[in-house]
Amino acid sequence: MADLERHNVTGPLGGLDEWEDDLRRRYPSPAEVLEADKSSMPRAFRDYRAETRPQVKEFYRLHHRHQTVDFVRAKRDEYLSGLPGCSPAGGETAATDRGPRRQMGIWEALEFLNTLVDDSDPDTSLAQIEHCLQTAEAIRDDGRPRWFILTGLIHDLGKILCLFGEPQWAVVGDTFPVGCAWSDAIVFQEFLAENADAGVPDYQTRCGIYAAGCGLDNVLMTWGHDEYLYHVVRDYLPREALYMIRYHSFYPGHREGAYAHLMNDADRQYFPWVKAFSPYDLYTKSAERPDVAALRPYYEDLVAEFFPPTLVW
Ligand SMILES: [Fe+2]
Ligand SMILES: [Fe+2]
Repeated sequence: MADLERHNVTGPLGGLDEWEDDLRRRYPSPAEVLEADKSSMPRAFRDYRAETRPQVKEFYRLHHRHQTVDFVRAKRDEYLSGLPGCSPAGGETAATDRGPRRQMGIWEALEFLNTLVDDSDPDTSLAQIEHCLQTAEAIRDDGRPRWFILTGLIHDLGKILCLFGEPQWAVVGDTFPVGCAWSDAIVFQEFLAENADAGVPDYQTRCGIYAAGCGLDNVLMTWGHDEYLYHVVRDYLPREALYMIRYHSFYPGHREGAYAHLMNDADRQYFPWVKAFSPYDLYTKSAERPDVAALRPYYEDLVAEFFPPTLVW
């Protein structure tokens, strides 16, 4: 593609990888848990919060302060109006100052995403496209269906929000509902005291602006790469895949079991897929770099099976 200019991300993290590395510290793999249990330092005595790097804490402080109902509605208006078949929650669509929407194919979007440069340790940080391919290849190795493999490949494409100028805290981070009481299961929940919604009584009841059991499709989630990509690809993938994409960062929901009171039958039916996807996302990071050029033909075929040549971004 023509635009191979390198882009840095704005925010306290050395790169988006740093949030995901921190997630692996918070949710170690079953193999790591076994290993830690055998070591001299039992896992129960390890303090995730104390071990969290200052830049990750600062990232969560900013995330939790700025992800308000008004912010989420504004981002939905900005990014979702103009997508085929999308009408953002809240009715009216505000004019976007981003100009005409970008048209890109899936592979082109992967290459665009890959222009993000991380400042974190270059020896351990993978290029974005490598994380996408490692995730997809692990799913493929397990003999999963083709749509599942494709979901692994594309699940983080929403991170191109960074390339549209969004700060890190509006792209990554654990997602959770806004407009209702925050769960204790949200990481660094105390930073939410700085969120303006803390002063809105209607947003501080258990269900807030929602009805119990209304279904997550009717709930505003914090804005980030998951929700954005869901809307871009929603016409092309099976519902299982769409749940994985939309809720893969909703750790309070799929890991901690929070917000069950807002879920409906469809959420209960499809959340097992979100859980099935999560280990591939979290635990397939390896130092062995995938051969992007060799894998590309297989994935181009797979993309063409489900997607048109270009999508609106
Ligand atoms: Fe992600
Ligand atoms: Fe990911």
